[in-house]
Amino acid sequence: MRAQIIGTGSCLPEKIVTNDFLSTIVDTSDEWISQRTGIRERAVCTDETLTDLLTQAANQALERAGITAQELDLILCATIRGDYITPSQACVIQKEIGASCPAMDISAACTGFIYALDVAAGYFARKKVKKVLVLAGDCMTRMMDWSDRSTCVLFGDGAGAVVLGEGENLMAIQLTANGNVDVLNIPHVGGDSPFDKLPKSQSYLSMNGKEVYKFAVSSMYRDVQTVCDQAGVKVEDVDWIVPHQANLRIIEAAAHKLKVSGEKCLTGIENLGNTSAASIPIVLDRANTEGKFKAGDLLVLTAFGAGLTTGACVLRW
Ligand code: COA
Repeated sequence: MRAQIIGTGSCLPEKIVTNDFLSTIVDTSDEWISQRTGIRERAVCTDETLTDLLTQAANQALERAGITAQELDLILCATIRGDYITPSQACVIQKEIGASCPAMDISAACTGFIYALDVAAGYFARKKVKKVLVLAGDCMTRMMDWSDRSTCVLFGDGAGAVVLGEGENLMAIQLTANGNVDVLNIPHVGGDSPFDKLPKSQSYLSMNGKEVYKFAVSSMYRDVQTVCDQAGVKVEDVDWIVPHQANLRIIEAAAHKLKVSGEKCLTGIENLGNTSAASIPIVLDRANTEGKFKAGDLLVLTAFGAGLTTGACVLRW
């Protein structure tokens, strides 16, 4: 592959909601949430839009990459639901940051960032681009049924971004999809057509947590091995695993099966909750700004989500 990450950025909304606060809204407790998921608090949108979060993450990534928005050849945005059904969230951000390149959204739920990396890699392979902005973001808390304790405690809001430039550091990407609406879905928002005979449904997330849990652990285990094989590296040689942040127990169980030590798995779930496709670029950006990565470090990104989709990527820092 002909691409590498040359800048990272991220942004969270200001309001922090603790587990204790959630226990004043639904019948739950800090103990239940933190023991079952590792989540202690999450950032939640109040008056921020997804556009606000993504714009800040994008500008940060551009600044760190040392390029202007005008130098971008493509903008991809992984999101479940942008601020508008149309135009795409990527087009909205293109205007906000002052870019003039093509822009489009990628819909692959929590796996969206890795799907977007793969789409970008195709553009680099065809030599159509030199600089690509890959964004991921969602305001998940606006898609929750806040009377359903089994889902509303799990999610948070946020955005992440990377700028890709030419290079050889993206080594392999592995994607899967296994269509299944029942286990995890968010229905569409209805219009008010006088001809519409379909039942009106609320646009809330519903999920079979146990099924997703089993799927997540087994797919992470499989995908990390597959993508390492494709890249010609051994799992034990990987320096950092950057997993989708949905549940600490999922990350620990997959790491255990892979025989990877806990210190190699980067986590941020404790104060992020599940930020959907944004979770990997947010954690990546945090580790990058903390100076965790050394040049040459081997990273594996791995995600799963609605679809059901999964993806993994090997890259050299
Ligand atoms: N607070 C307190 N109790 C809760 C609760 C909450 N927020 N949510 C559910 N419970 C209760 C359930 O009602 C159930 O009670 P019961 O035994 O009396 O019926 C009990 O806790 C156990 O629920 P269960 O669903 O078995 O818990 P679990 O150990 O499977 O954990 C999840 C639930 C959702 C945390 C876990 O299944 C999970 O993380 N799944 C993956 C979800 C995911 O990653 N989604 C995102 C995909 S990108």
